[in-house]
Amino acid sequence: MVLIGFMGAGKSTVGPLLAERLGWTFADVDAELARTSGVSVAAWFAERGEAAFRAAEAELTAELCSRDRLVLAPGGGWILQAGLESVPRGTALVWLRVSAAEAVRRLERDPEVRPLLAGPDPLARAEALLAERERHYAVADYNVMVDGRTPAELVSEIIEWLKTSSS
Ligand code: S3P
Repeated sequence: MVLIGFMGAGKSTVGPLLAERLGWTFADVDAELARTSGVSVAAWFAERGEAAFRAAEAELTAELCSRDRLVLAPGGGWILQAGLESVPRGTALVWLRVSAAEAVRRLERDPEVRPLLAGPDPLARAEALLAERERHYAVADYNVMVDGRTPAELVSEIIEWLKTSSS
């Protein structure tokens, strides 16, 4: 299963909880990329550029997908380039939907730098990016609005959906 969605949607928080409940493995693509390359996401953007970062994310995704029973959390822009092509056909895609305002609120407390929201007006930037990306995220098999919901509630809802979709 792949959790897609905007920055701040909670992919890296919900993902491990979901994997634990399912008895599956969890992998955070960007964290894994930073660990294996020794280069932070912010440095990838600054030094190698966004396109190189997205290609590396897709390549690593294909490697990670050699494992079965996997919950994968890629970065919010993974879906824009080769992301989808790097997962096996039939992999369930779940979209964690977050409003721009909630995403920005959450990211203010997050030490991880998001180069695409840097600048004087992160909210306007998040609104614009989200508007562009919604149609990409909308390819998901299931979606859940995360604003005002706890990770545990989201995990239960996704597991219920998984049961009905695989029965
Ligand atoms: C990005 C999302 C980030 C990270 C990078 C770019 C995006 O991941 O990949 O800063 O384009 O939406 P998160 O979604 O985990 O914040």
